[in-house]
Amino acid sequence: MRTDREAPAWVRDVTPGEVARAAWVAAEAFQGEAFTNWLFDLSRERVRAQLARTFARTVARKWEAGDSLLVAVAGDEIVGAALVHVPGQPARSPRWRRALGSVPHLGRTLSLARWIRWRRILSTLKAMQPPPDLRKPHATLVGLAVAPVHQGTGIARLLLDSAHARVEVEADLEGIYLFTGDARNRDIYTRFGYRLVREASRGAGFTVYHMFRPHEAQAG
Ligand SMILES: CC(C)(COP(=O)(O)OP(=O)(O)OC[C@H]1O[C@@H](n2cnc3c(N)ncnc32)[C@H](O)[C@@H]1OP(=O)(O)O)[C@@H](O)C(=O)NCCC(=O)NCCS
Repeated sequence: MRTDREAPAWVRDVTPGEVARAAWVAAEAFQGEAFTNWLFDLSRERVRAQLARTFARTVARKWEAGDSLLVAVAGDEIVGAALVHVPGQPARSPRWRRALGSVPHLGRTLSLARWIRWRRILSTLKAMQPPPDLRKPHATLVGLAVAPVHQGTGIARLLLDSAHARVEVEADLEGIYLFTGDARNRDIYTRFGYRLVREASRGAGFTVYHMFRPHEAQAG
């Protein structure tokens, strides 16, 4: 693992040819994420691989639906990604084509159902709801991920700075919203100007943190 704090990476919009790779980097990073491990039984390698493929496909579909996918690139390698939803962005492919594109993946998605901790999902659904009084309209940070071997080198900072710059040009937006199930991530986001707007605990010590970063916020 790298220990230097200098990030030898830069951030830009993904190109169409890179979407699958960027989605895969995000999928791999999320294997260790708290929410994923709360909702899925990932003790088997086969399930982890299947979840990563489904997760990567979901990221790609969101990009096709119009979300922004920013990538951190070091050399010619994608080392991190941020998926940002900005309301009103046009889709990159028509809805019918996106729906059709999902059909070959249905079997894989359905086979994951066995490994979902359904009782936890049901008990967490309410906790995942954003607070009703969030300032609107707002962008949403759907996902932020750095490849495990590159974590701790400042790449999340580069991605977050770019994501914030991306949404701040949208003058009609009030800010950017996210939720996380990880107290460490909550602390990271706090340093970047996010404020905790709702904290909801569910089940065996699992807490969902809802956070909002108003446009006027500055990173700490
Ligand atoms: C969360 C994640 C994106 C962070 O990526 P990273 O590249 O390791 O983060 P960085 O090295 O850029 O650090 C970001 C900032 O958080 C700070 N930070 C790191 N760990 C921290 C902690 N435990 N508490 C508070 N701040 C912390 C860093 O010091 C840094 O701030 P600085 O630039 O002012 O020093 C990465 O761990 C990841 O991909 N995890 C798996 C997926 C995930 O959980 N995504 C978030 C879902 S909501």
